[in-house]
Amino acid sequence: MSSTMATLQITPLHPSLGAEVAGVDLGKPIDEPTKQALSHALADHLALVFRNQSLTPAQYLAAASVFGPPMEQHYSQHHMPDFPLIGMIWHRNGQQPAERWHTDHTNRERPPAATILYGVEIPSAGGGTSVASMRAAYVALGEDERRRLDSLTTFNSLDSDKTDTRAEDRDKYGKPIEHPMVRTHPVHGSRAVYFHITKATHISGMTPHASKAYMNDLLERMIRPEIIYHHAWRKGDVLVIDDRATMHRAHGDYDRSQSRILWRIIVEGDRPRFV
Ligand SMILES: [Fe+2]
Repeated sequence: MSSTMATLQITPLHPSLGAEVAGVDLGKPIDEPTKQALSHALADHLALVFRNQSLTPAQYLAAASVFGPPMEQHYSQHHMPDFPLIGMIWHRNGQQPAERWHTDHTNRERPPAATILYGVEIPSAGGGTSVASMRAAYVALGEDERRRLDSLTTFNSLDSDKTDTRAEDRDKYGKPIEHPMVRTHPVHGSRAVYFHITKATHISGMTPHASKAYMNDLLERMIRPEIIYHHAWRKGDVLVIDDRATMHRAHGDYDRSQSRILWRIIVEGDRPRFV
């Protein structure tokens, strides 16, 4: 066992999901056994928190690669200059906090396995990130509804409610991509409800209007406090979210005169499938 593996400690943060990982410096190279352990920890706990990290953009990209190859984010106006695989989440460049429950980049054929956020500047109160276990949400649905969802797919494109999307991004990432509404986790083997309400243009066999109404109704019924881990940011936190079995949302409840800067990396996963 390597020295890193010997010190890796994983402590659950909430009964449903989320765990804090101690004993890893993400600024240093991570050995193969530790990579394996972290990949399994993510599949089990669905959200991992690393505290007190101090990372350059290059170190952050290297650390994120533990969970998969970093992939390009489709709103290129928010890419970090010189490090286009890092997206800047920052209200001062005109972004609105993503306050609706969603999973990232469902308009890709191989959507991200994980979204990774690094807290660079954190307001003194509010501005947290919540993550919900869609694995637990699936289990809590009635048998009939599970069977219904198992057979449905969504068609995904860029968000219909965004007005500042660049034409070249729309050309590259606006083509319809079909995904199952329930996906089987490639590492864990469990099933989870999977959709993005503003990226899904419609559900198979349903009108756009009926599709939105059903997705809204599902979100209202499925996402309950018991399946949510709320992350209250501290500067230096790295939060890794498993996009294959969760949804997340930002909280805009912070003082806009303060700065909130998160660096985001998404890493490629496999094509969603229902087994
Ligand atoms: Fe997101």
